Amino acid sequence: MRNRKKIAVVGTGYVGLVTGVALSEIGHLVYCVDINAEKVAHMTKGKSPIYEPGLEELMIKNINNGNLKFTTDHQKAFTNAEVIYIAVGTPEKEDGTADLKYIENVCQDIAFNITNKVVVVTKSTVPVGTNEYIQKIISTYTKVPFAVVSNPEFLREGSAVHDTFYGDRIIIGSQTEEAANIIEEINKPFGIEIYKTNLRSAEMIKYASNAFLATKISFINEIANISGDLGANIQEVSKGMGFDKRIGNTFLNAGIGYGGSCFPKDTKALVQIAGNINHEFNLLKAVIEVNNKQQLLLVEKAKEHYGSLKGKKVALLGLSFKPNTDDMREAASIITAEKLILAGAQVIAYDPIAIENAKRNLPDAVEYVNSVEEALSNADTAFIMTEWTEIVTTPLSKYHQKLKDNVVFDGRNCYELSDAIRANLNYYSIGRPTIL
Ligand code: UGA
Repeated sequence: MRNRKKIAVVGTGYVGLVTGVALSEIGHLVYCVDINAEKVAHMTKGKSPIYEPGLEELMIKNINNGNLKFTTDHQKAFTNAEVIYIAVGTPEKEDGTADLKYIENVCQDIAFNITNKVVVVTKSTVPVGTNEYIQKIISTYTKVPFAVVSNPEFLREGSAVHDTFYGDRIIIGSQTEEAANIIEEINKPFGIEIYKTNLRSAEMIKYASNAFLATKISFINEIANISGDLGANIQEVSKGMGFDKRIGNTFLNAGIGYGGSCFPKDTKALVQIAGNINHEFNLLKAVIEVNNKQQLLLVEKAKEHYGSLKGKKVALLGLSFKPNTDDMREAASIITAEKLILAGAQVIAYDPIAIENAKRNLPDAVEYVNSVEEALSNADTAFIMTEWTEIVTTPLSKYHQKLKDNVVFDGRNCYELSDAIRANLNYYSIGRPTIL
């Protein structure tokens, strides 16, 4: 490959691993570095630590052709590297701000190990101004010349491989044209539109994009919450709104709120970032508040239906925060299970792949089963939390056959109302008239 570079990627979480694998796939020599030796040994054998469709195939292919390596050894990865990507976590601190301790550690590792001029690229989502801080830390410990570039990630979990190769844009924020051009060259084979900005704009684009998408979700959820009671159908409302190109026809699915590792964390962080310069981001605060309430909606509906949930057996279907991932972070199933148990209900949970992670996140009292059918057979009622294909394709007649109380609370609008009527079910969904 012309312009093949030695690249190091630090951190093999979601963003780091997918970035490393994708860069190796377009022909670069990539060293993925992680401090967890067990994880590195696992990945060296072509095993992905996360569930992500298509990822393992690409890992195996590029390990075998020599483009992709995994190591715990920073020195090995950084020696002669021309570009180093930082993709470590920026977890949320108790006050909602982003914790930069992992970034700080990586900066020191970089400073102590680089041997030649490098471009340090930040993939992690970091508060505006952090790349300048990164620059300061590294330059405190080394005389080797380097430049810092912000290249935020816009991948969705569950479709990360697809998004890498067919994304809408690549943002490159840089203080120097030279560094921006190096990163542009690296990314050209993806064939995705590249937009170059200053460092701080790139950092802000990431937060603003996630905050805007979260706003879209909370907005449509608020419309849903009044639509159902007014006899409107939110799916028709969303579709009707989406014909307007200024609004767009995606990300308008009403449900039980957003979860995951990004929207909840990044919205809170942006409120804090604004607060630091004495700006009250009231709109975003409301988005967060709406989402917190939305995650509790099915429990509220069930309490209204039953009066008391004491002794009720609830099949909790789909535990991950969305389909095609085993990620449980901020999943609505967590707070729902907690509230159900607090109300005296029994929870029988099922997910196609997230059960192991769920066991670490849901209350101990939750029981787990191996299929949708098994969950329904043991339950009085069902809560649909995630629109997994396996759940969406379970016919409503099954619910009618198995559930003792014949009532379903669908948090993801998986079924047509006409199907619920035909199945003779009591059916609650989001932003649509209830079928009783
Ligand atoms: C999100 C963004 O979509 C990515 O662009 C971004 O790169 C990523 O965060 C990140 O910052 O790393 P992700 O969290 O993987 O990606 O998942 P999404 O598909 O965006 O879904 C997030 C949540 O919103 C899910 O709980 C989903 O159920 C919910 N959602 C999404 C809705 O309730 N309605 C919708 O119309 C869309």
